[in-house]
Amino acid sequence: MYLTISKRFEISSSARPWRPDWDDQRNFDAYGPASRAVHGSGYNYGICFHFNGPVDRRTGMVVNVATIKERLKPLLESRYDHKFLNLDCPAFREMAPTAENLARELLGQAGPLFSDLPAKPVVCHIRDTLTSEATAYADGRVERHLWLDFSAARRTYSPRLTDEENARLFGAAASKMGHGHNYRLRVSLTGMCDPWTGLIVEYQTWHRVLSALRAELDHKNLNEEVAELQGIPITTESLARFALQRLAKDIPVNRVRLYELPDFFAEYHSAGRFALGAVRSFQAAHRLHSAALSDPENLAIYGKCDNRAGHGHEYIVEATIGGHYDETSGTLYEFAKLTGGIEEALKPWSFKHLDAETGDFADSPSTGENIVARLWPRLEWQLDGRLDRLRLWETPNNRFTLRKQVEKLPTPAEVI
Ligand code: NI
Repeated sequence: MYLTISKRFEISSSARPWRPDWDDQRNFDAYGPASRAVHGSGYNYGICFHFNGPVDRRTGMVVNVATIKERLKPLLESRYDHKFLNLDCPAFREMAPTAENLARELLGQAGPLFSDLPAKPVVCHIRDTLTSEATAYADGRVERHLWLDFSAARRTYSPRLTDEENARLFGAAASKMGHGHNYRLRVSLTGMCDPWTGLIVEYQTWHRVLSALRAELDHKNLNEEVAELQGIPITTESLARFALQRLAKDIPVNRVRLYELPDFFAEYHSAGRFALGAVRSFQAAHRLHSAALSDPENLAIYGKCDNRAGHGHEYIVEATIGGHYDETSGTLYEFAKLTGGIEEALKPWSFKHLDAETGDFADSPSTGENIVARLWPRLEWQLDGRLDRLRLWETPNNRFTLRKQVEKLPTPAEVI
């Protein structure tokens, strides 16, 4: 099991990704239209730092989110927020200020700020625009993520099953009349990222390849109009694999995540692994307070979360499962079983005070770390032992992630 705590920040800055030693056309090919913004163009960066370390049994925390804030906010505010990165950040006088380079730079700056703690920043993830992200890992890997939207009609249907079997498995989605989705595909690229250019793949390449895939799928009936999808099951899982295999001919894509709905997605990894994820929420009150600590200690550690009368959250839970993909049906798992299993697992906590009204936090405070630890076995049981990753957002800025099979993943685990 591998646990990460993520803290999200926002900064607004201007930047111009370009190389002064290249001409305009060369810069446009590499960086796209933003290279032409001579005074920099604007970004509302969403920046997540992910920490890994042991859970302190006394506090129930890997690292206090307040500590993360205290140490990283001054760094972001003094050097990056409301600045023109090319001129105001010494690092970007040499390197192009791409999302890849910014993620790598911030992770490098964050490390020394936590050298006295067991928890270490292992990943920095940046969203620079609505359709672009980058991730830097402590082991030096860098990823770029690009989003592609398309709208398409389909009938969820496997030609390898009878009509009755399709209806049983896919319900209304198997209707002959079809239905439709606004799909969102996230494409993750990996490979060498030269700090000098700050790019894994140049704009002209990924833009051409993603546009071609979009043209093939957008406003099409996927069962009828896409030659390469003929004769195979049309499911979210199979579409994710199709997208990766198609893109991998031209760009170094290591995984894709295809959202069929904002709260349901399939992933396919270049190593051949499928995953299926769904999101549900529950509302609960709680109080962070440990009986093992004095009142002043509780207040010092938990701050406003120690409020005697409690406070609460709408917790967002994302469960992702893995396991065997069935080529006959084109499914990894039944959609209704996945979403129903998550809902069942959350029921005992919904509209309750986690500490006062459930027995789950009698011995340990209801920190995000302890909530995912308690929820994991309950979900694992509901989902036939196939749970691979569990994410809990306590607020949009604080996330707790527990994952299995870290030994199969490169370390640190892909956390995004
Ligand atoms: Ni709270």
